[in-house]
Amino acid sequence: MSLQTLSEWLRCPNCFLPLSPRGDLLLGCDHGHSFDVNKRGFVNLLTGPRKFIGDSAAMLDARDRFLDAGWYEPLQSIIRTVVAGESPRRILDVGCGTGYYLGAAVPPGDDVRALGMDLSPNAVGRTIHSHDRVDGLVADVWSPLPLRDGGVDVIMNVFAPRNAAEFHRALQAGGLLVVVVPQPAHLRELRELGLAVEMQADKAAHLTNSLAAWFRLESHHQLDRSVLLSPSEVASLIGMGPSSHHSGSAPDSSVSADRSVTVAFDIFGFRRR
Ligand SMILES: C[S@@+](CC[C@H](N)C(=O)[O-])C[C@H]1O[C@@H](n2cnc3c(N)ncnc32)[C@H](O)[C@@H]1O
Ligand SMILES: [Zn+2]
Repeated sequence: MSLQTLSEWLRCPNCFLPLSPRGDLLLGCDHGHSFDVNKRGFVNLLTGPRKFIGDSAAMLDARDRFLDAGWYEPLQSIIRTVVAGESPRRILDVGCGTGYYLGAAVPPGDDVRALGMDLSPNAVGRTIHSHDRVDGLVADVWSPLPLRDGGVDVIMNVFAPRNAAEFHRALQAGGLLVVVVPQPAHLRELRELGLAVEMQADKAAHLTNSLAAWFRLESHHQLDRSVLLSPSEVASLIGMGPSSHHSGSAPDSSVSADRSVTVAFDIFGFRRR
């Protein structure tokens, strides 16, 4: 991380003027607003009270454990391929979590940069270690994003909330938005056991409609497979997702034997209008 590369993504969350380095671990705008960059190398540009909380350290630990086992490698690989097809120089991941997908999607090239954004400082702290050209930003996707206009070539948005108007503003003309959502069959067996939350049935159609004013659907990949998970892997899978948000803790002994579980995703590429 350098303060220069970090600041090149950013605008002031208060007055929207560009942010630039102002000495050691400080970014500022020409109106005199300034923001500390923490020693770990990312900046928190949250303003005002928060209604939502990002993923907790326990959820991120569960996510790390589950992803490290490699079950979602096929998804990581599709995302990498879709992103590489754009030959991007600047990639933004909104709701980056642990950085598992972003770190793998950064193409080679000294001039390529990536930015991991999440509401959870813990998540951003992990993401900046996913690749040496990844910068980090704590911000809320539901607020005007502290990102400059048109500075991004590809936005990734994997199982995370989205803000179509702001994504449109942050992307360059003709940029690509890559959105990954679970299919209705995703974790079906765990839902039947009452371990995973219900899912919106028409999520994909809803997604395309909600983005239509700003983006047109250009590509669609699907992944659908069955994986055999151990009880501890099931616990990590539940603990890393929305079911854990709802219950407040991850179930750890609800499954006593290996389980066959459906994992199924839609991977959409939306072109900026
Ligand atoms: C289900 S996780 C997905 C993380 C990562 N993309 C992955 O697939 O491993 C959703 C992420 O979105 C973040 N998030 C939730 N609400 C947010 C918001 N309002 N603004 C930004 N990030 C948010 C959470 O902190 C969490 O890291
Ligand atoms: Zn300002």
